[in-house]
This record gives sequence, structure tokens and C-alpha cells, in this order.
Amino acid sequence: MRIAKMRFTFTQLCSFIVALLTVQSAVALTDADIAKGKRQYQQLCAMCHGRNADKQALNSSAIIAGLPATEIVSALHKRKNGEIDGGGNTVKARLTEQDIQNLAAYIETLGK
Ligand code: HEC
Repeated sequence: MRIAKMRFTFTQLCSFIVALLTVQSAVALTDADIAKGKRQYQQLCAMCHGRNADKQALNSSAIIAGLPATEIVSALHKRKNGEIDGGGNTVKARLTEQDIQNLAAYIETLGK
């Protein structure tokens, strides 16, 4: 029996590197930047949810200050992908995954 030699083509090597980079950026997403989240919150969300996230947006949302980050992330995903139709969805649909992580980490720090 012959033992097959491990030989990589250039294309295989490239896709391996791409796969590694993809894993890396997926991991990086969990590193939330609270300072960025705060800035973005003030610019995009405060007008409806209140400067300290302590108001009901358009008199209809829950008060989001201090909600667990995981809940905020899932709430934003559902509104971004249209699963839940809400007054703030045009803003929420434009958020990147990193924005969502940053915002959730910041909002979780409020109201405590
Ligand atoms: C135009 C006003 C408006 C803006 C701007 C807005 N929202 Fe909202 N948001 C709402 C309304 C109205 C609801 C309740 C309706 C719904 O379920 O989507 C809501 C719901 C939510 C919820 C779920 C709370 C619940 O009721 O369970 C979260 C979390 C949230 N918004 C976060 C944000 C964040 C973060 C931003 C900034 C990126 C933002 N919102 C921008 C109006 C807004």
C-alpha cells in the first residue's frame, strides 16, 4: 500500500487561508466595542428610545436600558431580517453584525 503524499495545490492553500481568516473575523465579532456602541446609539437610536434608553420608543416598545445583550442582539436580528415589523426597522436594517454587537453591549450597561 502506498501512502499518499500530502501535497497542496495553490488553490487549496488559498482556500485554507480564506477559511482561517473567516474563522478569525467570526471570533472578532464577539469583541464588542462599547464606546462605538454608545456613539452609534446616540446617533441612531436615542431619538426614539431616549438618551439613556429609558423611554418607550413611539410609546410602543419595551424600555431597553439594561436588557441582556443577548436579548438585544436577537431583537435587532428579528427586526433587521423583517421577522418583526417595527417603527425603527429602517434604521435597524442597516446595522452590520458588528454594530449590533457594539450596540447591545452598550445598552446592557445602561439602567443599572
Ligand atoms: C423611529 C424610531 C426608532 C428608532 C430610530 C429605533 N427604534 Fe428600536 N424600536 C422602535 C419601536 C417603535 C419599537 C417597538 C416595535 C418593535 O417591536 O419593533 C422598537 C423596538 C426595539 C427593541 C425591542 C424592544 C422590545 O419592545 O422588545 C430593541 C432592542 C430596539 N428597538 C433597539 C433599537 C436600537 C439599538 C436602535 C438604534 C440602532 C433603535 N432601536 C432605533 C423604534 C425605534
